Amino acid sequence: MQKLSIRDLDLSSKRVFIRVDFNVPIKDGKVADDTRIRAALPTINYAAEQGARVILASHLGRPKGQRVDKYSLRPVAEHLSNLLGKPVAFADDCVGEDVQRMTELLEDGEVLLLENLRFHPEEEKNVDAFAQQLASLCDGLYVNDAFGAAHRAHASTAGITKFVKQAAAGLLMEKELEYLGRVITHPEHPFAAILGGAKVSDKIPVINALIDRKVDKLLIGGAMAYTFLKAEGFTVGKSLVENEMLDTARQVQARCKEAGVELLLPTDHQVVDSYEPIKGDKVMAKTIPVEFTNAGHAGMDIGAETVSHFANALSDAKTIIWNGPMGVFEEPPFNEGTIGIARAVADAADRGATVIVGGGDSVAAVTEAGVADRITHISTGGGATLEFLAGDELPGVATLTEK
Ligand code: 3PG
Repeated sequence: MQKLSIRDLDLSSKRVFIRVDFNVPIKDGKVADDTRIRAALPTINYAAEQGARVILASHLGRPKGQRVDKYSLRPVAEHLSNLLGKPVAFADDCVGEDVQRMTELLEDGEVLLLENLRFHPEEEKNVDAFAQQLASLCDGLYVNDAFGAAHRAHASTAGITKFVKQAAAGLLMEKELEYLGRVITHPEHPFAAILGGAKVSDKIPVINALIDRKVDKLLIGGAMAYTFLKAEGFTVGKSLVENEMLDTARQVQARCKEAGVELLLPTDHQVVDSYEPIKGDKVMAKTIPVEFTNAGHAGMDIGAETVSHFANALSDAKTIIWNGPMGVFEEPPFNEGTIGIARAVADAADRGATVIVGGGDSVAAVTEAGVADRITHISTGGGATLEFLAGDELPGVATLTEK
């Protein structure tokens, strides 16, 4: 890596500002999934062990520049304190005199978490004066460990670097860049990518970059598959389709053909007769081949045949990346396809493939399937992972100090 690492910094007795991505789900005032918090522990522990006075800052949700109670990071401070096994002080704001005083009272190895950065509109607008206020909390040392937010050019992820002496990558940031970087520069072949989620439009840059990077197989599930199926002439009924992306889907199909990329779409799917959200036992779903879809059907998940068809396609893969759910993952039983793919990629990892999983639902699926520890690398990024894989420069990385 050409950028400074936290390991290059002299942290002893210094206040260091560490941008983390603690944008985690909160339910009933408690952290519902702490994957991202755990992922930041190596950096926090490293800094504390070096005798740093650790100031942590993050966003949570999208409060639109207002103080919104449900987006407070206070529950995260409590959770982090349990994970670290020591107190974590919490500041009720992220800038201002009181916060300044709290940072000055920190002793070596102590940790302070600031309140949600996005309670201030200046954060997302990347206002210099705000970035400077954030920078004034530390002794010229900034660490970005928020890979998940590195695609945002905000005050705490980019602007602040202008006002510190050294801006370095944290250990999680380095790990993410190393794994994802290796996949896009030197993937071992066969290289397969599995993409899901609702929108083709979100994934087009990544699809094109993957074709350029000579991906061997492209497996497409989730609602975005219906745009491809419709482009191929299938009836998709009431399934979600981006009609304005049909031509783009056809271009992707043509590019795949030209480049020798095997494009796999679902051959069967779970459908219902209405797209209204349906819960538990009221679900009247059935699994049918895609060619049997009629005008009244709405596709909710890939079927069992598609899962095994995708699993077969992955059986010889040496590199696999997966981003996006295969169906309406949050509405069981429409999580079955995504869980099936989670098992298939874990089996591929057991056979020696490098498997990288990113994106909230895909990551939740590997956890729910109990296979998380078999995956080579679970990325904490959603949008950041996609932008990185698409070859975009991430502002949160570009602004770090050159080594
Ligand atoms: C994410 O959850 O992908 C990151 O925390 C970024 O959040 P954002 O999309 O609200 O900027």
